[in-house]
Amino acid sequence: MQSNVALKPEAVARLHVGIIMDGNGRWATRRGLSRLRGHEAGVEAIRRIVEAAPDQGVGTLTLYAFSSDNWRRPKAEVTALMALLRFYLANEIAALMRNGVRLTVIGRRDRLPDGIAAAITRAEAETCDGTTLHLRIAIDYSARDAILNAAARAAGTGQLSRESFADLITGETGLRDVDLIIRTSGEKRLSDFLLWEGAYAELHFTERMWPEFDADDLADALASFHRRERRFGGLTAIAPAEVANL
Ligand code: IPE
Ligand code: IPE
Ligand code: MG
Repeated sequence: MQSNVALKPEAVARLHVGIIMDGNGRWATRRGLSRLRGHEAGVEAIRRIVEAAPDQGVGTLTLYAFSSDNWRRPKAEVTALMALLRFYLANEIAALMRNGVRLTVIGRRDRLPDGIAAAITRAEAETCDGTTLHLRIAIDYSARDAILNAAARAAGTGQLSRESFADLITGETGLRDVDLIIRTSGEKRLSDFLLWEGAYAELHFTERMWPEFDADDLADALASFHRRERRFGGLTAIAPAEVANL
């Protein structure tokens, strides 16, 4: 689909966008469908957005798929979500590789049902050469736990900087802070998502439910992002290309 943002991806620093993919359940129940149908439609939306993101100047896309607090949901829904995740990992690798997408998964792996951690490791290994987009999927993820674990690992290691601590939190070297966090479904909260990396993120809230979110909605969010002035505490706007070097 044609993007309506006039951006040459190579002309600007590639952005890091995070999305809190919310509203699957409400989208489905409003249509008289089961919540599971909403989660299935949510997977279709993931496919659309992963495909559209690189052409819109996105280099890193972090998708919130399952929070550590989502274990509180009814067992049947959790089981269905885990089955969908298994299905996604098994069926998506070829398309991700074809599109040059590198997949990594953030969050805890030790509480996932049997076989899923191994499927994640395999998907990460098979897509590791992708350079078009770095897709990060947050599963059993809690930003506070990520910070806490990094603090535990950092204890006693001596000199620590914001950058080296961020590497401990993200598990990556020099991962770009998240530039823009989008949340669908009209909720206006972060629900424990990217609390450290999002210190200066622009926030975009839309009423759109995640299953209906498409490339045009992403373009709208990015257009709104590009109209804003990011100052990082200073007095003048800082261009995206310079943000990475802050
Ligand atoms: C987001 O949709 C998906 C997950 C949290 C797994 P929800 O399931 O939270 O949908 P609503 O908020 O109940 O509509
Ligand atoms: C946040 O959505 C987590 C994901 C989208 C995976 P929730 O629907 O779980 O968040 P709350 O409970 O409304 O804050
Ligand atoms: Mg929700």
